[in-house]
Amino acid sequence: MDVSLDGKVALITGASRGIGKAIAATMAASGASVMLNSRKQEGLDAAASEMVGEVDVFAANAGDDDAGERAVAATIERFGRLDILVNNAATNPYFGPTMEVDKARYDKTFQVNLEAPIFWSQAAWKHAFAASPGTIVNVASVGGLRAEGGLGVYNLTKAALIHLTRQLASELGETRVVGIAPGLVATDFAAHLVDNFGDTLAARLPTKRLGEPQDIANLATFLASDLASWITGETYVIDGGAGVASAGI
Ligand SMILES: NC(=O)c1ccc[n+]([C@@H]2O[C@H](COP(=O)([O-])OP(=O)(O)OC[C@H]3O[C@@H](n4cnc5c(N)ncnc54)[C@H](OP(=O)(O)O)[C@@H]3O)[C@@H](O)[C@H]2O)c1
Repeated sequence: MDVSLDGKVALITGASRGIGKAIAATMAASGASVMLNSRKQEGLDAAASEMVGEVDVFAANAGDDDAGERAVAATIERFGRLDILVNNAATNPYFGPTMEVDKARYDKTFQVNLEAPIFWSQAAWKHAFAASPGTIVNVASVGGLRAEGGLGVYNLTKAALIHLTRQLASELGETRVVGIAPGLVATDFAAHLVDNFGDTLAARLPTKRLGEPQDIANLATFLASDLASWITGETYVIDGGAGVASAGI
């Protein structure tokens, strides 16, 4: 069974590093034309230069008001259509008790992690999917499914993203909306946890290793493909078995 995205066009936020970069590379290698988004042009150019297939880049802060509109327009202008939107970019500027978060960092977290997926999806719907059904892939987190110390505000955005996935699936019909909830994956985003506790955490997992960006990219590419055409509204946990490990992580 080959996973093919031949003829499809994908737009991916947060695609210069980590999970988003792996999703972009895997989708491009699977036949899609891919527009990579992140804030920094340099990082985007470097990522794109490593990829096989048809790729281009669009620099913008995903949380900016009109970023989704501009990115969707640029993608359609460059590749002629849009079939797949991956809402992957996220930020976590605050670590600590939910009761002590300040308004500025609360707003930034919600802008990038929740508002961007809503308004990028809206732009994709208006300019592409309403006429030709597409697929939206939301990268959430296992943190959106449970409470954990320090990450309360970030996890609120991920819980909301999991519900947004259900809600949009119920509203958008043949445009499929799917979610991915990764456990700990070795990226810059998780560097503190990986550097300090990675070995201990990996040893507790049934799979005996932390996640790699490629693990998430494989699932995202399958979910975006026609092989997953009867899947919508659900968010898939991919955590190396952390959820069933006796000690958990
Ligand atoms: N790593 C994990 O353990 C883990 C676990 C569960 C869920 N996740 C989720 O997986 C997704 C990707 O995380 P990651 O670990 O791959 O992160 P990462 O390695 O830190 O990469 C983040 C990417 O997003 C871009 N980015 C950051 N802020 C942005 C913004 N405001 N607008 C546009 N692009 C932005 C970054 O590039 P620029 O700096 O150029 O903008 C970079 O390309 C996130 O949604 C995260 O919540 C990660």
